[in-house]
Amino acid sequence: MIRLNDFRRIVFFTGAGLSAESGVPTYRGKGGLWEEYDYREYACQRAFDRDPGKVWDFHDERRRFIAAREPNDGHRIIASVPGATVITQNIDGLHQRAGSAGVLELHGSLWRVRCARCGTVTENPEAPIRSRRCACGTWLRPDIVWFEDMLDVETMRAAGDAIARCDLLVSVGTSGVVYPAADLPRLALARGAVAVEINPEETSLSPLYTHCLRGSASEMLARML
Ligand code: OAD
Repeated sequence: MIRLNDFRRIVFFTGAGLSAESGVPTYRGKGGLWEEYDYREYACQRAFDRDPGKVWDFHDERRRFIAAREPNDGHRIIASVPGATVITQNIDGLHQRAGSAGVLELHGSLWRVRCARCGTVTENPEAPIRSRRCACGTWLRPDIVWFEDMLDVETMRAAGDAIARCDLLVSVGTSGVVYPAADLPRLALARGAVAVEINPEETSLSPLYTHCLRGSASEMLARML
């Protein structure tokens, strides 16, 4: 059994399955967000340019929903591992609410907004948001990496650096189908790290991992303590 205590440079690479036990739906599969909503209407720049009010209604509803959820034991176990790096694809902020610091948010955050004209990025915890416009009058946009957007270069570089240095990568609750994020486990393996996948189901990346733990995030993480 792989024990977290036996490693010194641990990276957790997390996806929507980690927040599933907090009651936040995942994106794919039964009950997945993208089964119910077409991302082309709610989660891409073109949709926002066409109808920012509609895209904001969707994101405000997500703000309301997630604000009412709590981090679960999986988030808490991850936050309790000293010196670990958290790289997440999640935008829900639940890692931070569980106490993780320095979280690398590959896909941005539901809790930040940015103004295309001023270029300012601001934390905003309101649910729903009080003003959808910047002081300059321009529509604010959720600071989320939507479909067809580029990832933030600095965040991706920091994630790559942490992965290149790690001796253990623990991938938790991700289908591994969204790139370039899904390339990160490969990088860890190429560097000779031990790589564990926690997921109740097999994924397209499963054959890459040195160990696969089939079960829920909180249960499997507890086993690694
Ligand atoms: P997905 O919805 O693609 O995958 C969720 C994974 O979690 C699946 O493989 C499930 O089997 C697994 N899972 C479900 N319940 C679990 C549990 N209790 N414990 C552990 N695993 C569980 O979500 P992501 O891989 O995170 O982008 O998706 C990647 C990106 O696609 C997201 O960041 C999102 C989406 O478009 C943005 O929000 C910008």
